[in-house]
Amino acid sequence: MHAKALTDPIYLYELKLGEEATGGALGPFCNACHSPIGVMSGELTSLDQSKVSPAGMEGVTCDFCHQVSGTAGDVIGNTSTAVTGDGVKLGPITDPQPGTAHEAMYSEFHRSAEFCGNCHNVNHPGNDMPLEATYTEWKNGPYAAEGVVCQDCHMTPGPGVIKPREGKAAAGGPVREHVPMMTFAGANVGLGDAARAEERLQSAATLDLRVPEIAEGGDVTIQTTITNAGAGHYLPTGLTDMRQMWLEVTATDADGTEIMKERRDFGTVLKDAAGNYPVYLWDAVGVQSDDRIPPRESTSNEYSFAMTEGAVTVRAALYYRTCSEEIAEKAGVDIPTTTMVEVTKTVYSSADEIGMTDKEFRASQDGTGGLPGLAITVIIFGLMAVALVVMKIMMKKEA
Ligand code: HEC
Ligand code: HEC
Ligand code: HEC
Ligand code: HEC
Repeated sequence: MHAKALTDPIYLYELKLGEEATGGALGPFCNACHSPIGVMSGELTSLDQSKVSPAGMEGVTCDFCHQVSGTAGDVIGNTSTAVTGDGVKLGPITDPQPGTAHEAMYSEFHRSAEFCGNCHNVNHPGNDMPLEATYTEWKNGPYAAEGVVCQDCHMTPGPGVIKPREGKAAAGGPVREHVPMMTFAGANVGLGDAARAEERLQSAATLDLRVPEIAEGGDVTIQTTITNAGAGHYLPTGLTDMRQMWLEVTATDADGTEIMKERRDFGTVLKDAAGNYPVYLWDAVGVQSDDRIPPRESTSNEYSFAMTEGAVTVRAALYYRTCSEEIAEKAGVDIPTTTMVEVTKTVYSSADEIGMTDKEFRASQDGTGGLPGLAITVIIFGLMAVALVVMKIMMKKEA
């Protein structure tokens, strides 16, 4: 996604809207982060990309990131990167090999979350309100306390912390204990590395669905619990006024008729000075609502429906989209909906329906079980003992 930061059609669509709304004032602010090289070189001033060199068009590039030496100023965010600009490549290798391609120097900063936070915290240029706060969310959460940084999850081959990954950092270089990846897979299935993004989304949350096994009538109450099990920050994070994540819970009767359909949306809604919402980033002065799940935390909901004559199938699913279908269409891109996690359970209308006798059902309910495990164990051991005796007799006969 970093290589596409400037050519990303959803970015260009929003940038154009922002430029129009602010008479072109917004462009330099947005571009500074989406194409730092383009802006630093002075080639990129607004929507016009015709004068931008190929290096600037590459968005957040190898050259840029590997010349970052720290944070400029004391607030992390809004492209607060300090850059050397001398061509020497800074990186996490403590003993860079003298190479032919470029000089290299060790940089501890590249192993820090602050390196990412310089760009992954975005505050409104006019009123300073946080618009994206991935770094802050991480900093205040459990992963920061444990020393797990962004790089551990986003620069490794799978979801979660997959380290070390042995290999070579450059052809002809020595084999190193851990070589990070430069793919930066996140959640963007439509425009990024689809398989890796999908994998991350599907590892981000767990979903627990509780339903009664049998309901003989009346109202049935079910409970869903979503846990942010895999993301090092809020779920969702980043541009959360645009991202869509929602829980959908349905109940379907034996004839296939939907008898309940509920939805809960996760994300942020921005409001403007007059209290209108939702509004675009540039018009925002505050947050109207923020419904997201902090790292390792859970959120529960209860829903209910009236029981039918036959069994009812309950399905709960958590979905993610990079943006709405409307925005995708306007930006001219195909953005898929990803199922992050789903669970299906059945509520039976009577014990008979499960194929249990009443007695077995009652036994299973109070925990004594139909055929107790102990009895099965005794039978198995009994049979083994018999087999042993038979074998001994046979062996004696042969001898
Ligand atoms: C968004 C910033 C960013 C971009 C873009 C980026 N890198 Fe990196 N790179 C890093 C960071 C941060 C590390 C250290 C990660 C770690 O150690 O966990 C790193 C590590 C490396 C390493 C060291 C591997 C090792 O053995 O430790 C090499 C080599 C490298 N990058 C090359 C590249 C190349 C080539 C590109 C362009 C295709 C690139 N990087 C793009 C940030 C970036
Ligand atoms: C120079 C600013 C900059 C730096 C430094 C930077 N990023 Fe990014 N990053 C961006 C921008 C801009 C995008 C959005 C690109 C787009 O979609 O248009 C992005 C996108 C991403 C995405 C993809 C999000 C998605 O929806 O799939 C991930 C993951 C990511 N960055 C992780 C990191 C990590 C980890 C680091 C630190 C090692 C880092 N970034 C450093 C600017 C930066
Ligand atoms: C424990 C692993 C973990 C850590 C640590 C972590 N992330 Fe993530 N990140 C994820 C997972 C899983 C997702 C996909 C689910 C989601 O969107 O939150 C993700 C998604 C993202 C996205 C895409 C969000 C979107 O909806 O477009 C960005 C950007 C990102 N992370 C940046 C960062 C940055 C920057 C840091 C460090 C400050 C960081 N991450 C730390 C696991 C992690
Ligand atoms: C300080 C850095 C920074 C600045 C400034 C910035 N962005 Fe971003 N932008 C990011 C990061 C980081 C992401 C990725 C976050 C995520 O995946 O949710 C991103 C993602 C986006 C995306 C989503 C792209 C996609 O494919 O889903 C859009 C649209 C966007 N930015 C528009 C803008 C606009 C318009 C501005 C100016 C008002 C702007 N950005 C200013 C860092 C920045």
